[in-house]
Amino acid sequence: MRPERHPLVSCRVRVLFIGDIFATPGMKAALAYLAQAREEYDFIVANGENAAGGFGITRRHFQQLRNAGVDVVTLGNHGWDQAEALELAEETPRLIRPANYPPGTPGVGSASFEARNGERITVTQVMGRVFMDPLDDPFRAVDAVLEGVPEGEAVVVDVHAEATSEKRVMAYHLAGRVSAVIGTHTHVQTADETIVRGTATITDAGMTGVQASSIGMAFEAVHARFVHKLPRRYTPADGKGTLCGVVLELEGKRARSIRRLRWPGADEAA
Ligand SMILES: [Fe+2]
Repeated sequence: MRPERHPLVSCRVRVLFIGDIFATPGMKAALAYLAQAREEYDFIVANGENAAGGFGITRRHFQQLRNAGVDVVTLGNHGWDQAEALELAEETPRLIRPANYPPGTPGVGSASFEARNGERITVTQVMGRVFMDPLDDPFRAVDAVLEGVPEGEAVVVDVHAEATSEKRVMAYHLAGRVSAVIGTHTHVQTADETIVRGTATITDAGMTGVQASSIGMAFEAVHARFVHKLPRRYTPADGKGTLCGVVLELEGKRARSIRRLRWPGADEAA
């Protein structure tokens, strides 16, 4: 049953943010979790830029996630690895690419949606520039997005970046102005979740995929490249995936709680 809405009182919105879904084991873990838990959430965001074997996302992956209850899929530096994602981004605002791509890039960098309990929520993504390809300023880009968001509306920011420092500074930059700043891209869940001035943040939500791997890829080829400098093709690790993410409780624009999620539990053993 849906909570009754009062025009002056915001309902609590329970948001699930699923960390980078990596290849088939990641997709399987995400779909299995959502099959049993989707009703617990009012709104679900998933980073899906590695869904297709680690490289991008196809129309099929996007539709599978949507059918499982995911409201919005965010991208990142691998967003366009599958050409059909460029078409898909033009067809739906539910596939969000970084807002700091150059003007004219297909798709949108932010959009506002209605959660299942009737509250509105804006989702945006910015990509970092430290140890990554040059891009427009993510700080100015997110400020520009916020200018268009109605006062009091919940905002979830996916900061897709390599450097811990850049993600932490983005959270500092946005504290008190958005509901959550969730780090993605580095694939290892951090233990620094906190709430600052009503903004929930974590440096990285973690990877949904095989944890006993080199951030999703099988160890062998990566090891050969590091140790022997041999050219080897990366392949996604086989095995059972773990869902990593965070659960947020929002009230209007303010976050009331942030909790790390690992499901069904640690599976680090190789
Ligand atoms: Fe990435």
